[in-house]
Amino acid sequence: MAGNIKVVVCKDADEVARKCAGMFVEQVRNKPTSVLGFATGSTPEKSYAQIAKLAKAEKVSFAKVTSFNLDEYWGLDGDHDQSYRYFMNEQLFKHIDIRPWNTNVLNGKARFPEIECRAYEEKIVSVGGVDLWVLGIGNNGHIAFNEPGSPVDSRTRLVSLTQSTIDANSDGRFFKVAAEVPRCALSTGIGTIRDARKLVLLATGAKKADAIAKAVDGAFTPDVPASLLQDHPDCTFILDQEAASKLKK
Ligand code: PGA
Repeated sequence: MAGNIKVVVCKDADEVARKCAGMFVEQVRNKPTSVLGFATGSTPEKSYAQIAKLAKAEKVSFAKVTSFNLDEYWGLDGDHDQSYRYFMNEQLFKHIDIRPWNTNVLNGKARFPEIECRAYEEKIVSVGGVDLWVLGIGNNGHIAFNEPGSPVDSRTRLVSLTQSTIDANSDGRFFKVAAEVPRCALSTGIGTIRDARKLVLLATGAKKADAIAKAVDGAFTPDVPASLLQDHPDCTFILDQEAASKLKK
């Protein structure tokens, strides 16, 4: 069952990035006070470079934008070079005119994670909810750090990472060895993500093909967290040909 998910297949990862950047810059042009949701990982890196390029070329200002990120490693400070706060600063925030105080990333060193997570949910609500949120997908179908089994109505909370996610993040792109990867994270929930008015999920490469096929064509099930987007009213998957290769025609 394909649900409502719209699928756009691009010729390669560069085209995926251009399409994603086009959506974000258009969103901000139409509503300068947009609330945007961002993701980390290798997949969105090219999109962030494109957003910065396009915003500059088309003179679209992000000065009134508010942003929220999906997740953060538990135990890492924002200035740790593997923290998602650091990633966002380096990959996007320092290249556009978004105001640092309007960018929200969960605090991986919060003393009381429950209070941190509740405050994050409340802040999203207090600014009117997220207009457009970009997501990646794990090889196991996770979205943010919502690993298989995460409930459809889950909210921001402290979670444990699966071995598959720890392995994927210690293949040298980020951490060098699995022992360095934090075992827990603060993550927005599937319910938090589903509340966004518009979602775009990016996937590139053959390693994502199984997860994408299950998310789009398989059952609506917490076993494949991304499948829980099937009944979202405005969700688009932007894929390269490899990631799309196992979809039903
Ligand atoms: P990746 O991660 O973009 O580094 O593949 C995606 C994810 O785990 O959500």
